[in-house]
Amino acid sequence: MQICTSAEQYYNILRLFPEEYTIGFVPTMGALHQGHISLVKEAKQKCNKVVVSIFVNPTQFNNKQDLASYPRTLEEDCKLLSEFEDITIFAPNVDEIYPEITISQYDMDGLDKNGEGPRRPGHFNGVVQVVSRLFDIIKPHMAFFGEKDFQQLAIITHMSKKMGYPIQITPCPTVRESDGLAMSSRNKLLTSEQREIAPKIYKALSLAKYLYDTEAPEAITPKLLADWVVEQINKEKLLEVEYIEIVNASSLEILNNWSDAEHIQLCAAVFAHPVRLIDNIKLK
Ligand code: PAF
Repeated sequence: MQICTSAEQYYNILRLFPEEYTIGFVPTMGALHQGHISLVKEAKQKCNKVVVSIFVNPTQFNNKQDLASYPRTLEEDCKLLSEFEDITIFAPNVDEIYPEITISQYDMDGLDKNGEGPRRPGHFNGVVQVVSRLFDIIKPHMAFFGEKDFQQLAIITHMSKKMGYPIQITPCPTVRESDGLAMSSRNKLLTSEQREIAPKIYKALSLAKYLYDTEAPEAITPKLLADWVVEQINKEKLLEVEYIEIVNASSLEILNNWSDAEHIQLCAAVFAHPVRLIDNIKLK
């Protein structure tokens, strides 16, 4: 395992890579869990060199408190990654990533119109900014992203193509705790009571999938199904839905009719105050 904190150090390591190499890149903000480890395993299977970045990107936080409370556990992260023999960790500081304060504005062609977009203004702009900066430094052949951040994955896939990166964006399935809660660095911030109740989110999403399979399209509209999920989750005292959206999985447009999309995803953001959890499930 090698750790570098600057692009220069990384290029010195890159020079030593074998002649025929493919770089698999796993960008993270640290506080690693088994969800991240599954991305690393996938990268290891597909590429002979794997780089994991650990960088809490300030430009994607629209809330100062959220940025301040985001868990930072570099030592534990390195320990967790030490199970992999040949791995490069890129853990830069803010000045290394943003030597100048220039904020480019990206047009995401409407993919940021719903879901997280309007609720976290500037978030996806910050994500695209940091991912493109990391792509420029790391120069990967493949990059691995979790499906838990469904909208992020769609935006990065689209923007990477649009910006001309010759990088294969590889989606990896959401990894869940045994009770169904999607693994997330933010789970560490839940109180024990919140942690106990949080799996109800995925339970409601799974029941929605069951209802979709058995009742849609005749007996229930996308709006009715979304409202039903809101009701199920809001029944729980410690949970409060921010949104439940049933979207066309390609355009991320909110669906009015089931027949408007070939692939359909139900996306959720729920508060266990002040922690905000997101999850999603494929309906079709
Ligand atoms: O998903 C994340 O952890 C972050 O949004 C990412 C892709 C590492 C960019 O900071």
